[in-house]
Amino acid sequence: MIDVISDGTGAREVEVGMRQQLPSALPVLPLRETVPFPDTLTPLAIGQERSVALVNDVLAGNRMLVMLASRQPDLDEPGPEELYEVGVVGVIARMLKVPDGTLRLLVQGAQRVHIDRWTAETPYLVAQISEMPDVLEESPELTALMRNVQQTFSQIVEAVPYLPEELQIAVANVEDPGGLSHLISGSLRLPTDEKQVLLEECNVGRRLRRLTEVLARELEVISIGTEIQSQVQSDMDRTQREFILRQQLKAIQEELGEFDESAAEANELREQLAAVDLPEDVRKQVDRELGRLENLPPAAAEHGVIRTYLEWIASLPWDRSTADNLDLEHARTVLDEDHYGLEQVKERIIEFLAVRRLKPDARGSILSFVGPPGVGKTSLGKSIARALGREFERISAGGVRDEAEIRGHRRTYIGAMPGTILRALRDAGSNNPLFMIDEIDKMGSDFRGDPASAMLEVLDPEQNQHFRDHYLDLPFDLSKVMFITTANTLDTVPGPLRDRMETIEIAGYTNDEKLQIAKRYLVPRQADRNGLKRGQLRITNAALRAVIADYTREAGVRELERQIGAIARKVAREVAEGGNPKGSIGEGRARELLGRKRYHSETKRRTRLPGVATGLAWTPVGGDVLFIEATAFDGEGKLQITGQLGEVMKESAQAAVSYVRGHLSQLAPDLPSDWFRTHDVHIHVPGGAIPKDGPSAGITMATALASMLSGRHVRDDIAMTGEMTLTGQVLPIGGLKDKALAAQRNGISCIIAPELNEPDTEEIPEHLRKKLNFHFVGQIDDVLDAALEPADGATPPRRRTTRSVTGEDRVYARRTQATQGE
Ligand SMILES: Nc1ncnc2c1ncn2[C@@H]1O[C@H](COP(=O)(O)OP(=O)(O)OP(=O)(O)O)[C@@H](O)[C@H]1O
Ligand SMILES: [Mg+2]
Repeated sequence: MIDVISDGTGAREVEVGMRQQLPSALPVLPLRETVPFPDTLTPLAIGQERSVALVNDVLAGNRMLVMLASRQPDLDEPGPEELYEVGVVGVIARMLKVPDGTLRLLVQGAQRVHIDRWTAETPYLVAQISEMPDVLEESPELTALMRNVQQTFSQIVEAVPYLPEELQIAVANVEDPGGLSHLISGSLRLPTDEKQVLLEECNVGRRLRRLTEVLARELEVISIGTEIQSQVQSDMDRTQREFILRQQLKAIQEELGEFDESAAEANELREQLAAVDLPEDVRKQVDRELGRLENLPPAAAEHGVIRTYLEWIASLPWDRSTADNLDLEHARTVLDEDHYGLEQVKERIIEFLAVRRLKPDARGSILSFVGPPGVGKTSLGKSIARALGREFERISAGGVRDEAEIRGHRRTYIGAMPGTILRALRDAGSNNPLFMIDEIDKMGSDFRGDPASAMLEVLDPEQNQHFRDHYLDLPFDLSKVMFITTANTLDTVPGPLRDRMETIEIAGYTNDEKLQIAKRYLVPRQADRNGLKRGQLRITNAALRAVIADYTREAGVRELERQIGAIARKVAREVAEGGNPKGSIGEGRARELLGRKRYHSETKRRTRLPGVATGLAWTPVGGDVLFIEATAFDGEGKLQITGQLGEVMKESAQAAVSYVRGHLSQLAPDLPSDWFRTHDVHIHVPGGAIPKDGPSAGITMATALASMLSGRHVRDDIAMTGEMTLTGQVLPIGGLKDKALAAQRNGISCIIAPELNEPDTEEIPEHLRKKLNFHFVGQIDDVLDAALEPADGATPPRRRTTRSVTGEDRVYARRTQATQGE
């Protein structure tokens, strides 16, 4: 059997020579997997012994043989039954002996023949044959078929790599339709049986039609093949492209040293985070982000975002705590070291710590220091932290309007950061610091969310175990943090927050306390701060008292400390200039250093005229005195109230007017009973810039009015506070301690207060209680008796009318009061 070593593409070399006379019988050479075609050149490789013998015999004779395709290509020596019946006569054109004993032949195909009868099978096959010539009927259809076949084949040649381009030219130049069909059939890669059909068909028209179909199908297969190929290509592209690009990028990064950087960074963070005992869900998130970080080049924007995020996680004290020092004696010592007085406050703090000591994991309530500025709220917090051995962090809630300030912004925002709570935790470096949340009463709220509810989540022991910052988006346990809040007043603190606080009020200091604080704490501290030795800054008690009285007016000691600081600086300058200040700074020297005194006792000056009464008020910055002025002028019974008063205060002014109007004959018997009808009354509370409200100025207004009507002066050493009913009863008020302190600051020695407030004096330091003369009252009459100077008869109320008083007038006046009820 013969192996084909190449397709019959050598056809173009064929010179159609003279056909030799066809013998009746010829040796038959079976071909494996190839079909011979007439008039084409076929290269063959021959190895079988039987075939070698055949070729040798043929070469010795007329060189002719019959090439016949085998139906069963896997058989080495197929017999007649395994061979087709139609083949091609060939003439051996060239023979080459290969050293391994096989032969290479080039056989020129000639006529198509039919095997009529087998005459021998050994040593090789021999058969009787007859020629099968083409049947050709010229027609336009045939020409059309020819052209079509040529065209389609040329397309195939272009699409298929195994067909040389020269075939296009050869095919275009063939004029014989039968030859054309053989040439094309021979060069295509088709299944053997299909080729055999093309060989056996003698009718050229039919053969071309068949070939057209085959070619059309081939072209289709080829184009689908390209399509599939390009699709596969693009599928592969997408996944591979990225891979390849990444590889390239990596190579570039490595070249630039960047990749190392990225990996090194991720590794550094990984190591850092591996050392931290993270909660499970945090660990998962961290691993995820680390994986992402490694695969991002440092230049990617996302890279920086992830790195910052991981750095934040690494910087938080997940597992770092400090050990608490719950030695109560130690705590007491520390508190005393830092603060003078404040006995009750210190006691409360010690109790609080005692409970902590007995029940360390108790979810403590939140301590809240409430009091005026400068009384040591913040510094007490620091002392507690020092006593406990905890880190101290101060967080200001004042002016916080945006929830995000507390809880941070989501990571999707550019420049997002954790909120103030986590920032403070990072700064503290331990997960159980003492957080002082200052000015919790000054937290605002607006469209950006309610910071109070975020603060509640922070403070509430029920919720703060899983505090979730928007930026971190992971829970952080805040339950070990000790919170202390400070406020000037609890009025503006939202209810739910207030409920969770254990309030400790710090009212303010008396002048004596201030003196002690100054001597023991402020002077040494300021000496220190200004680089003076202790002995170089000595201030006498008299000087300090002068500073307290004339250069400060405050509930706390901040201003006092500042003034002492001012003295210290001046002394420091003298020392620096070579002086050697010896001895103490006395009152005169202090005044000299501080300049003109800043505050004057106004009470005396203000109450020089009748119609002015001194009241005591409570404000978030401590108690204060306020002056209420009443005046009247000709008019028609109108009441004017000025001085930025709130509704409640205006109402109590009206009530006071109604009361004095009803008691006009008692209060000012000289006035005509229709006095209120012919006069306008104006009540003014100076200090218009400060809004004032509350009912506790009631008796003060009534006193100012009574003073105006009667012309009796209000005593200048007296200040008062109390709500008043229309019937003249005096009702209790709040903040007596603050008010008492304010009275003292203003040089007042007597306080008129509601009798129901008498128990409150216990809160007032004893030495102050002794100095101040309290006058407790139940009725406005008592107030007026105590506050108004005796009538001297010589000073009539201003604009006092001289009209005579008739009975009718009085009745009228009473009626208008009842009906108009001003
Ligand atoms: N009893 C005291 N003994 C010693 N120093 C005191 C005392 N009270 C306050 N001080 C000092 O007064 C200064 C002001 O106190 P601090 O800043 O704590 O006031 P505060 O109550 O927090 O005021 P604010 O409400 O304005 O924040 C601090 O230097 C503090 O040490
Ligand atoms: Mg403070």
